[in-house]
Amino acid sequence: MPAAPELALAIIGGTGLYALADLQDIETHQPVTRYGAPSGPIRIGTLAGKRVAFLARHGEGHSVPPHRINYRANLAALKAVGAQRVLALNTVGGITERFGPRVLGCPDQLIDYTWGRISTLSEEAGSDVLHVDFGDPYTPLLRREILTAATAAGVAVVDGGCYAATQGPRLETRAEIARMRRDGCDVVGMTGMPEAGLARELGLDYACLAIVANWAAGAGPDPDEQITLEEVLAHVEAASAGLGPLLSALLAQA
Ligand code: HPA
Repeated sequence: MPAAPELALAIIGGTGLYALADLQDIETHQPVTRYGAPSGPIRIGTLAGKRVAFLARHGEGHSVPPHRINYRANLAALKAVGAQRVLALNTVGGITERFGPRVLGCPDQLIDYTWGRISTLSEEAGSDVLHVDFGDPYTPLLRREILTAATAAGVAVVDGGCYAATQGPRLETRAEIARMRRDGCDVVGMTGMPEAGLARELGLDYACLAIVANWAAGAGPDPDEQITLEEVLAHVEAASAGLGPLLSALLAQA
């Protein structure tokens, strides 16, 4: 049997993004890794003429909350099916002015405010101790390719910014968001870490495309506004219109 063509890209979908609409000829894989099972099946198919894998980070029915995601299993499973490049789609709240609802951003930095998550492959006694470089948490070349693809596709994507990874599942207090702004954060989400760090430990190229679903607590023009799930999902759906053309352009470069 001829070997399967290489995977051009693996995509991890976040809140509101549970499948890739245009993925064709889908095969389903359910790899179980040494870290356990991933959040759900990996769907591998053809998108824009290239082989692409998709995994819904929270499960296809959004049954896994951010702090209970088996991030290690998700990334190890993607690696096991042949992924080398991972595009993480993360739904976020916007903190600074450039990141209002429906904006797409490609951050270049992050601050990890999560706690109690298994955040390394070195967790078990006897495993190798990994001190990977993480000064640039997102692979610069993959970020560049995403931004070039966005320009080619005519999709606006903000270049750079700092992602604050919070524990969730509750949203933040206004004081927490004010502190994150002082820390230099631009967007806030609950799933960016340990995913990015584990990808680095596994030697995967990894970049984030952040989809702004709402103003973070107290950050928008109406500081008293409450965040609702309906608002989050409606903004993600609207912002996702740019994803198809951006992905096609990205895959055309692969
Ligand atoms: N905070 C944290 N995570 C989020 C938010 C938010 O405001 N919106 C979408 N994901």
